[in-house]
Amino acid sequence: MLVIVNETYDTMSAEAARIVADRLRKKPDLVLGLATGSTPLGLYRELIRLHKEEGLDFSKVTTFNLDEYVGLPPEHDQSFHYFMRENLFKHINVDPRFIHIPQGMAKDLSAFCDWYEQRIVDCGGVDIQILGIGVNGHIAFNEPGSSLGSRTRIKTLTGTTRQDNARFFKNLDEVPKYALTMGVGTIMDAKELLLLATNASKAAAVRSAVEGPVTAMCPASIIQMHRNAFVLLDKESAAELTGTYNDTWEHKIFTSGNHPHG
Ligand code: F6R
Repeated sequence: MLVIVNETYDTMSAEAARIVADRLRKKPDLVLGLATGSTPLGLYRELIRLHKEEGLDFSKVTTFNLDEYVGLPPEHDQSFHYFMRENLFKHINVDPRFIHIPQGMAKDLSAFCDWYEQRIVDCGGVDIQILGIGVNGHIAFNEPGSSLGSRTRIKTLTGTTRQDNARFFKNLDEVPKYALTMGVGTIMDAKELLLLATNASKAAAVRSAVEGPVTAMCPASIIQMHRNAFVLLDKESAAELTGTYNDTWEHKIFTSGNHPHG
């Protein structure tokens, strides 16, 4: 696990984009795992800039999103389909046929989840998975208590997560109660993980994830078991960490092909 504490959200986002762009240049048909939420917006903005200004090519990329609400149509402005289209897909040259986002409107949700798992395998597995972290330590919609071996499935959202998300809806009642989400086990199958966190509200969750025990009560803590995980933080989200991390980073040269992980 390589923890990198950046001065600001912008430098963190640029660093994350540098890693993704590096992987994409090395493997044009990269299988890219994507997250929604506010945290990866800076990364997506930077990827868009790299596409527009430096010709970063997404035409052969396959994407898999982590999750989607159940019951929101793709055109709903709070659906993750809408979020991805507005914040990334419409600005880059990704082929719509290669985009995968869980279908929260599927007639048979559990059959869809099985299909999604198999589809990831058929595409060769996720090469690099972007992750955010919830204030309660969730990753994707895997809330505390989720099995660390879980696969893509339907989940009931906790009160905390629904309340966190209520600001995006007219009122709490409108916040969906269920979501489809990759499981913790699905996420762990990705060849690399890139977990991003920003601002003080995430500091406790980051500490539990990085330095706490590996436990289903903090699903993000499973990253400690991944062989190739980056944790990219800004100063505020790193504030509760007790270890020293950046000195390790300074001695790693990953973009030239060296293996990055400690
Ligand atoms: C969304 C997702 C969620 C978010 C998490 C943090 O696809 O996977 O787990 O990453 O809720 O959200 P933000 O970034 O809005 O703080």
